[in-house]
Amino acid sequence: MSRRIPISPIDALRPGQRKLVFVDGASVVAFNIDGKVFAVDNSCPHNGASLASGQLEGHVLRCPAHGMRFDLRDGIEREATGLCPKQFPVQECDGQFVMRVDDPL
Ligand code: FES
Repeated sequence: MSRRIPISPIDALRPGQRKLVFVDGASVVAFNIDGKVFAVDNSCPHNGASLASGQLEGHVLRCPAHGMRFDLRDGIEREATGLCPKQFPVQECDGQFVMRVDDPL
């Protein structure tokens, strides 16, 4: 079963901004890149560091802990280790960005 979890009103998450969303005791970080929002688990698949403060280079997010890079368009780790953060599809609905979360998170 999946749920739709609100991220933010569209006007409150502008291009270049990011936001943490808490779901079932876990956190998801959403990035607005050029008007499209990408939501990923805030726990790096390498060793669990928070990805929320990672540096963005285009669509590529660099983990602040050990520097692994993830392409937010497909979640794939750029150095081909096979690690990728869990992603959540985002859509616009009734003036909000909303992500789809499958149970369990
Ligand atoms: S915890 Fe993210 S690269 Fe190590």
